[in-house]
Amino acid sequence: MSVFEGKHILLGVTGSIAAYKAADIASKLTQAGAEVDVVLTEHARRFITEITFRAITRRPVLIDLFDEPEERQIAHIHLAKRADVLLIAPATANILAKLAYGIADDLLTTLALATQAKLVIAPAMNTVMWQHPAIQENVRILEERGARFVYPVEGMLACGDVGAGKLADTPTILQAVEEVLNPPLRGVRVLVTAGPTEEPIDAVRHISNPSSGKMGYAIAEEAVRQGAEVTLVTGPTLLEPPAGAKTVCVRTAEQMLDACLQMYDQADVVIATAAVSDYRPAEVWQGKRKKGEQEWTIRLVPNPDILRTLGARKGKHILVGFAAETEELLQNAQTKLREKNLDLIVANDVSQEGSGFRTDTNRVTLLWADGSQQALPLMSKREVARHLLEAIRQKLLAR
Ligand code: CTP
Repeated sequence: MSVFEGKHILLGVTGSIAAYKAADIASKLTQAGAEVDVVLTEHARRFITEITFRAITRRPVLIDLFDEPEERQIAHIHLAKRADVLLIAPATANILAKLAYGIADDLLTTLALATQAKLVIAPAMNTVMWQHPAIQENVRILEERGARFVYPVEGMLACGDVGAGKLADTPTILQAVEEVLNPPLRGVRVLVTAGPTEEPIDAVRHISNPSSGKMGYAIAEEAVRQGAEVTLVTGPTLLEPPAGAKTVCVRTAEQMLDACLQMYDQADVVIATAAVSDYRPAEVWQGKRKKGEQEWTIRLVPNPDILRTLGARKGKHILVGFAAETEELLQNAQTKLREKNLDLIVANDVSQEGSGFRTDTNRVTLLWADGSQQALPLMSKREVARHLLEAIRQKLLAR
């Protein structure tokens, strides 16, 4: 049986040239057994008419906040309560801003506030608009609140420009709705390590590295969204703890190891993105060391390798590591994969622009223990997280 069978989907269509593609989306959802209520904004009606959607869905199409097709029912509240998913496709820059700031000035935006249904948003707009910081900020706000985005793709846009902004294709949008209805990682317990560790030298100084934690937090957030039970063990970062995950904050490598060992039995999958300090000062100076004319030599001792420790007692766990390299990327990653007894390693050339520490993007290659490889293009860390979790899901299915 299709996951759409008997599901109630609100399809919001806004005023984009891609509005005509919403007819195909409505048709495919209806064919798959969903009950689809289409809500058109005033601007959408300039591009496509309600007659098209009424014929496809065989249901009334909704436009006006004050339309009450059924007596004794306040339409927008009734619809909002029944909906399993609110899908907005195509979504314009305008609707993203309204959703981000909670503006309710028509039926669709009012429904979006009144519903507890999962929100799936497929934007379509001109490339420059899509890349505008205001839009990207609104996308970030909505993603943090749990909305699932189906990002626009690159292509020739209606305005003649070429670039990202084209509405994603119908199968991709339907797949996102399907994942929201039937979270692919439901029941899977995922432990993620993230951020740097700090190894104290004295009361005010420490050894650390520039890891921002963004990759690990993106994985934790995405895993929560996909229905997993997520524990995030994190070194010090400036990021908000991901909603829905259990977050354990640690400072040093030894504390991170302790936390991971405590959680290990309750995890099916471990994804280690933390940039663990490989060394720590042998002695920690009590209080703050005063400066002087003399040289100061700090003796460093090796820290435990957390992932290697977990790999040595692997059991049924799926273990995933990240390899931060500046040279011999694949070869070094392969060595780590083998020596730490991992199932998968994500090879990351941190010397490349847009890749590695403190960036929002990453270019990685996935290397499996069986020798298979998947090189991914430069993409946002969230998209890397999605690809990685999908690869892990396939692995779990194959077991
Ligand atoms: N890792 C870990 N504990 C450590 C060091 C690394 O758990 N003490 C994990 C990282 O989280 C990552 C993987 O091991 O998933 C590889 O980390 P990386 O820093 O690339 O490699 P190292 O093993 O530290 O080796 P090197 O620094 O020599 O490249």
